[in-house]
Amino acid sequence: PHEAKVRQLLGRMTVEEKLGQLQQLPWAYNTGPGGGQTKEAEEAARNGRLGSVLSIFGTKSSNALQRIAVEESRLGIPLLFGLDVIHGFWTTFPIPLAQAASFDPDVATRDAEVSAKEARSNGVHWTFAPMMDVTHEPRWGRIAEGNGEDPYLTSVFTAAKVRGFQGDDIVADDRLAACAKHFVAYGGAEGGRDYNTVDVSEQRLRNHYLPPFKAAVDAGVATVMASFNTISGVPAHGNTHALTDILKQEWGFDGFVVSDWTGVHELIAHGFAADGADAARLALNAGVDMEMTSTDLAEHGKKLLRSGKIEIGRLDDAVARILRLKFALGLFENPYVDEDAAVPEPTPAARKAAREAAARSMVLLKNDDRTLPLKRTTSSIAVVGPLAGSKDMLGAWTFPFATKPTDTILDAIKAAAPGAKVAHAQGVDAEGKDTGGIPEAVSAARAADFTVVVAGEPAAMSGEAASRSDITLPGAQEKLIAAVAEIGKPFAVVLLNGRPLALGDWIADAPAVLEAWHPGIEGGNAVADVLFGEVNPGGKLPVTFPRTVGQVPVYYNHENTGRPFDKDNKYTSKYLDLAHGPQFAFGHGLSYTGFEVGEPRLSTSRISAGALRKGDTVEVAVPVRNTGDREGDEVVQLYLRDPAASIAQPVRRLRGFRRVTVGAGRSTTVRFRLGADDLGFWTNAEDGRLVVEEGVIEIYAGNSSETTAKQILTVT
Ligand code: IFM
Repeated sequence: PHEAKVRQLLGRMTVEEKLGQLQQLPWAYNTGPGGGQTKEAEEAARNGRLGSVLSIFGTKSSNALQRIAVEESRLGIPLLFGLDVIHGFWTTFPIPLAQAASFDPDVATRDAEVSAKEARSNGVHWTFAPMMDVTHEPRWGRIAEGNGEDPYLTSVFTAAKVRGFQGDDIVADDRLAACAKHFVAYGGAEGGRDYNTVDVSEQRLRNHYLPPFKAAVDAGVATVMASFNTISGVPAHGNTHALTDILKQEWGFDGFVVSDWTGVHELIAHGFAADGADAARLALNAGVDMEMTSTDLAEHGKKLLRSGKIEIGRLDDAVARILRLKFALGLFENPYVDEDAAVPEPTPAARKAAREAAARSMVLLKNDDRTLPLKRTTSSIAVVGPLAGSKDMLGAWTFPFATKPTDTILDAIKAAAPGAKVAHAQGVDAEGKDTGGIPEAVSAARAADFTVVVAGEPAAMSGEAASRSDITLPGAQEKLIAAVAEIGKPFAVVLLNGRPLALGDWIADAPAVLEAWHPGIEGGNAVADVLFGEVNPGGKLPVTFPRTVGQVPVYYNHENTGRPFDKDNKYTSKYLDLAHGPQFAFGHGLSYTGFEVGEPRLSTSRISAGALRKGDTVEVAVPVRNTGDREGDEVVQLYLRDPAASIAQPVRRLRGFRRVTVGAGRSTTVRFRLGADDLGFWTNAEDGRLVVEEGVIEIYAGNSSETTAKQILTVT
């Protein structure tokens, strides 16, 4: 709709001004090396040499900078303000990995809506979210920011988040332009070390890493961010196949691609570009439209044009993509933010949404003998562990200005059981250092009827540049749990962490374990809601929990070997020193009630590939019954397996899920529809081929990826 205006403006721009639109500089926060370019940013804005600023917020500072661009530069083109609003602005929701554990995409939508309203009213136009990097690497700190190990689950959450941020029209003053990141395969970092190499086949790229990005593009995502990694030897920032052939041409993406922080200049360190000019040439020609923080395009663009190394058509295309978004956001008509309309702090409604989201995201990993829920009438409770009295619950990617939680888990337990005597002892410190406090925690536990141990990782242990080689509970925390277990009284462990942990031997002795992740601003209250049974937990694991780090990568959607595990046969695929399989499987999670998920029923047992391609579908009906004595939520999960295909397929792949609430003793039926997109897979063809092959497909239904209930569908 803005094409004529874009063309008209483009026609008035000098080459310097065009290159200026491609430049983004950082403001208040450095989220990478270098930064602190505020003076340069002001100067560039004045001279029409700046298109965007990142990490700026606040009505006054953003309006002041915008005024320079609009009122002092020759063409008065407004700046675009971006910020990493990943899981909240003032109101921090649980980390995205936790949100995925809710298996409820509305949780993601609500986070995005609340965040968009708070951020846009404070001068932000554009968020660098959602992050949708599927990964098999719990060591990778950025696993916290994504939705785990499954491309389908991530795709559903991605689309929900894009819709939440952008709404129907980003011109609205409570919406943000979204950014699908990081394109692509960043989650494949070797060894889980951040920024590391990724070598990936075309079929793995298309079946595993690309689907969430396609879902984001289909949902209308405004921008895409290139990733720091190489993709089979070619860095993403210089990868024409990914950025242009697939994203812009095959998918018809008409938004723009922003580099990651100094990602263009890093082409030199990758060993791909000879110098800054070469980096600028390679990145622009590959499909990067805006350069974050480094300045190679602005510095070398003119010379590159003169020498024919880049073309004006490509430069104009990049500028047009950026201007299109500025028009779509209404910035030309309305460049400033209303200083009186800023949302100043979390509203009660936002807090309520964050609390519900956190509780919905929690996963009851273990609950022997109905240890939980905890009775409000318990007369004495010990609350121990390094994170029990801590406000470090927000998780990675929260800015220093984010509102801190008001209540710790300890506060919330005290409030939930006002009649109980509640004792607190930290035991070990937050990094897990044994500070000699374990005996105090043990005597508190010994004196109490019930003990809650709150253990886990400080937020700084996950997120960007926060990979760990050891993913057990830090320091002496296991020792603390073992000491509490030794007492022999009932206790529960609450885990706050940003990744799957290798839980260690203590898991066998802990009667109840609640995975609460980094639960956000209302984390304390949400944990109490679940512990005392106000909320019946219904979350499921969006990632596999390994037994030890030596087992990594371990994930549910793996291919088979030619010698699958067989305990009676030496020559099969396994570790000598480890029980087979994960500690907790993808999709696992308990409830305070019981559920039975029945065999799937198919609307037909045979369908032709041709009919599927024409849009026919197969309905799968799955009965689910609440066998317990209270209402609860179950996540009915549908998995597929193609046991003989021209490319070996995963032993299971999630292709449907629904979280349903079922009353005590009641039943319901969940229905899924499967079409060609679901039953087919991408081949190794570089130009993208989704094939539906003839043969048998196994269709599994259940309440974890380990289900065995199946039916057979024959594709003819
Ligand atoms: O958006 C982020 C990205 O995910 C990692 N590098 C810095 C960017 C901007 O802060």
